[in-house]
Amino acid sequence: MELEHGAKVWMDGTLVDYAAAQVHVLGHTLHYGVGVFEGIRGYPTPMGPAIFRLNEHLKRLQASAHVYHLPIPYTLEEMTRAVIETQSVSGVLPSYIRPIVYRGEPGLGVKNTKGKVSLAIGIIAAAKYLGEGSEAGVRAKISPFRKPRSDGLPSFAKANGNYLNGYIAGVDAQADGYDEAILLDTNGYVAEGTGENVFLVRDGVLYTPGPPSEILMGVTRDSVLRIGRDLGLECVERLISLGELLTADEVFFSGTYAEVAPVREIGRHQIGDGRIGPITREILTRYMRIVHGEDPNYGEWLTPVPAPAKISPPVPRSRR
Ligand SMILES: Cc1ncc(COP(=O)(O)O)c(C=O)c1O
Repeated sequence: MELEHGAKVWMDGTLVDYAAAQVHVLGHTLHYGVGVFEGIRGYPTPMGPAIFRLNEHLKRLQASAHVYHLPIPYTLEEMTRAVIETQSVSGVLPSYIRPIVYRGEPGLGVKNTKGKVSLAIGIIAAAKYLGEGSEAGVRAKISPFRKPRSDGLPSFAKANGNYLNGYIAGVDAQADGYDEAILLDTNGYVAEGTGENVFLVRDGVLYTPGPPSEILMGVTRDSVLRIGRDLGLECVERLISLGELLTADEVFFSGTYAEVAPVREIGRHQIGDGRIGPITREILTRYMRIVHGEDPNYGEWLTPVPAPAKISPPVPRSRR
């Protein structure tokens, strides 16, 4: 699948052409999955292009890298500038921004921590995903593949290797005609989608798996909880059973790419009346306004991106 992408990829301080953004086949990350990354969105807003919750994403990147002994050779401020610069020159909006921390130079051996740690930032055009922003609703399958326990594979880090689990669950759900998988943990509690957190609404209360659930602490999850509290809703973070999920009034996914996506069916079970519920609709509407810079109450969540510096065309010698 050929994706629309930014013209340049930021690699260790240099903006290189998209086609030149390559790593060696004997790189450590390619073999062992020891890398960490982020998924961030850029949106058009009335103030120009802006990046949603950049600081929170980059802090999570730092935390994930810490878990996996990947010392990022850039400060938070340097990474912030690098993302803004890459978005600015990309020419792509709405965008999906993918910073990745990896060991790309030849260096086999599982315990090898010697290789150079690199940061790259690529950008693709954000495409429709899980009926993005739509009211139609997603059909999800409870995956037969369970979410591993964090004492084996820390789910709180956004690490490359974690996505083996999401991949096998997602491909299985898709092959069965579903849009997405919902993974349970090894105790049977609801964990998350392959790239989303899960929310449910029952009797007007908003619930989502919280510690000690096996989940990535989503930035969108955090945004939804803030929106929910600002709406005056009771918001509960705790272990969630499968029964609670299947009998909920409303269910939705949250994620940077998926945004807020209503779920209308889980396996053979219809959720609520099979249509987007009123609380999901309210949160979805508010979320979309916020990311597009239309709600000043959440303005601090958006980082403006300056237009690319105008590069003057070369002046012919004869006119110098
Ligand atoms: C496994 C997993 N869970 C949850 C999420 C949602 O996190 P966020 O809202 O930060 O995108 C993601 C996406 O990054 C993910 O990959």
